[in-house]
Amino acid sequence: MNINWYPGHMTKARRMIEDSLKQVDMAVEILDARIPLSSRNPDIAPMLAKANRPGLIVLNKSDLADPAENEKWLEKYRKSGVPSILFNAKTTGAKAKAEFINAVKKAFGEKTEKNAARGMVGRPIKIMVLGIPNVGKSTVINSLCGSKRAKAEDRPGVTRGKQWISTEGLDILDTPGILWPKIEDRTAAEKLAVTGAIRDEILDSEELAVRLLSILRSCGYSELIKARYKITDELPESDPDLLSLIGKKRGFVVSGGEIDTERAAAVLLDEFRGGKIGRITLDRSEQ
Ligand code: G4P
Repeated sequence: MNINWYPGHMTKARRMIEDSLKQVDMAVEILDARIPLSSRNPDIAPMLAKANRPGLIVLNKSDLADPAENEKWLEKYRKSGVPSILFNAKTTGAKAKAEFINAVKKAFGEKTEKNAARGMVGRPIKIMVLGIPNVGKSTVINSLCGSKRAKAEDRPGVTRGKQWISTEGLDILDTPGILWPKIEDRTAAEKLAVTGAIRDEILDSEELAVRLLSILRSCGYSELIKARYKITDELPESDPDLLSLIGKKRGFVVSGGEIDTERAAAVLLDEFRGGKIGRITLDRSEQ
């Protein structure tokens, strides 16, 4: 979460992932379903192709994302030839876990058949988990393996080797591959900041909240804003005015009758992140 991605860090991350890919059969790429495009690192696909490893896309945090958009993005990625599933790592039950494992097995299908032909039936599939910060990589690993998760070696000076965690036909590399987020433009940076993939100190929180309101409106979520903040009239046209109105509705009034927009911004961002405004997706599949 607190990584500043300098070119040196990127090179190191890429090298570590390339090394790990050699040890696994396939990679599971975790995306944040609220930003299925902006949370993708475009270097992953070429890295997998180079290593000749199949991939599976997991649209995680699907519980926070718009259900209709979840289906559209799933379809879009599947149509582009990448096996994909929706996932909620926070409340994974036995059914979701089985679906995850089946999706991995299916994505690995072709190779599994070859392995079966060579008499390697029953060998666990070795996988690694990849993704940008905060998409839920650790939560996914934990949800699949629970308490079986290997303990980190915390004695100073002891280098911890790679560890595998086994669960129902899978061997999972316990250290996920962390990639840098793709910050192509200001809007991508804003989406990454509001979902927590990059630190929001980079952007002023009031400015970020105003931009979030603009993005929410452009994605068609005005009704959710109205419902959450009990606004019965039409929304004000300007986004800073809307933020003030939200502050007013919440009673964030300081002496002299002024609205504490900083507090309104903090609450808006917090409530968005916690899914309290509703199930929202900020990238559109038809873009
Ligand atoms: P990372 O390894 O990719 O950096 O992400 P990590 O697993 O640390 O998850 C980042 C945050 O996202 C955590 O919240 C985690 O609980 C939450 N999360 C992960 N998967 C899901 C999901 O499918 N649905 C929902 N709703 N949340 C998910 P946190 O606020 O950092 O911690 P905490 O609230 O769990 O204590």
